[in-house]
Amino acid sequence: MGLEELYSKLLSTYKDKTVKSRELYEKAKTRLPMGVTYHIRFFEPYPFYVVEAKGSHVKDVDGNEYTDYWMGHGALILGHANEKVLEKVKELIDKGTHWGFEHEYALKLAEKIIKHVPSIEMIRFTNSGTEANMYAIRLARAYTGRKKIVKFEGGWHGGYDQLHVAVKPGQWLGSAGLPEEAVAHTIIAEFNNIDSIEKVFKEYGRDIAAVIMEPIQGAAGVIPATQEFIDRVRELCDIHGSLLIFDEVITGFRLGLGGAQEYYGVRADIVVFGKIIGGGFPIGAFASRREVMELLDYTKTPVEKRSFHGGTFAGNPVSMIAGYTTIELLEKPGFYEYLNWLSGKLAVRLEEVGEQLDFPVNITHAGSLIGIHFTKKKPSNIREVFSERIHPLINKVFHKYMLVNGIVFLTEDNSHLMLSASHTLSDIDYFAHKFEEFIRTVKNSLS
Ligand SMILES: Cc1ncc(COP(=O)(O)O)c(C=O)c1O
Repeated sequence: MGLEELYSKLLSTYKDKTVKSRELYEKAKTRLPMGVTYHIRFFEPYPFYVVEAKGSHVKDVDGNEYTDYWMGHGALILGHANEKVLEKVKELIDKGTHWGFEHEYALKLAEKIIKHVPSIEMIRFTNSGTEANMYAIRLARAYTGRKKIVKFEGGWHGGYDQLHVAVKPGQWLGSAGLPEEAVAHTIIAEFNNIDSIEKVFKEYGRDIAAVIMEPIQGAAGVIPATQEFIDRVRELCDIHGSLLIFDEVITGFRLGLGGAQEYYGVRADIVVFGKIIGGGFPIGAFASRREVMELLDYTKTPVEKRSFHGGTFAGNPVSMIAGYTTIELLEKPGFYEYLNWLSGKLAVRLEEVGEQLDFPVNITHAGSLIGIHFTKKKPSNIREVFSERIHPLINKVFHKYMLVNGIVFLTEDNSHLMLSASHTLSDIDYFAHKFEEFIRTVKNSLS
């Protein structure tokens, strides 16, 4: 059986198991484009629709259970429906969900985050990572008085116009409806390529307000920056008086309490957070040293120097208390040791399967993030994720193979896992076992 044939067989097995999801999908696609609320949640032939989730598992409307390695887009580091977080949220919502006035919970979360991230002194909350990146860029421009922003190919910072470029290899605009004028001040450099970023600084030098980067590119397939690369980017920013923005929407409080700055031993000027710090509720945040953040302070900064930030739900108490409670649990001794140990174990097991079966498996890995690449070599940027792939369909077949075996992760075309503390040794044993079975099956299909 060839790979295409295997794929269509897996699709029909999936369809047989997901009759109610299919019915929902048929209705949903008449009201929600693609039948989903975010295209990334779509996969072929249609997504399953969830009814509940607990710990490392989600259950769909047909009663199928899946071990979840997507974990709410990486937001749920504690697993689904953590009891302590739920208890605090339930206590709070009896008193209201959104007061629209100031309260102590935002301050408590701010203090909690700042305590763990030495480079920052002040923070502001948003509703999403996209928004936080948008305000971070604005703040960097306000502070430096410059316009140009550098981003790296493969970096995903959300759908904000000025950053929605060069997300996929070889692609410039990431969406229709993006005027060229909106991205006129965005400059692209290649990730993990020192020559490329040096060239950009040589050409644009003192016009660069900021370089924004994911220290570990998540959506690109978990591609860590090399130490040499990240050190050089920091150095170039210092030399040219540009700010370095770390988009830590994924890595913040995932790699450890200090995020990527601690992991790499590199200081950023502005740090952007999201996902985990909301404890399963909508959030984003951007933070910096006092001198930069005070440009948001209307009582201290003259009108022409002020940078705006705001939003109806910014700092809403539900997200604040959920985030605060989550970080309290992350502070417990042994939390990251367990999570990172478990994830490391899975990463090694997957690599071993590749070696034992003499199949091109390349695992990229940092903390509890794992990228799975069927490539001729370990990819160091998004171009290589695709150009080195041994077969264009292989990740999709892998996605469907695992899905029909009760394991889910996204995306179907770029496999990456985000583990939680709810995952167990038996979860990862099962994953590794099914992975091995998949490789054996696929080897037959390809031979
Ligand atoms: C690194 C990174 N930055 C920003 C975003 C955008 O965050 P949000 O989806 O909350 O707008 C994401 C989302 O996945 C992300 O991974």
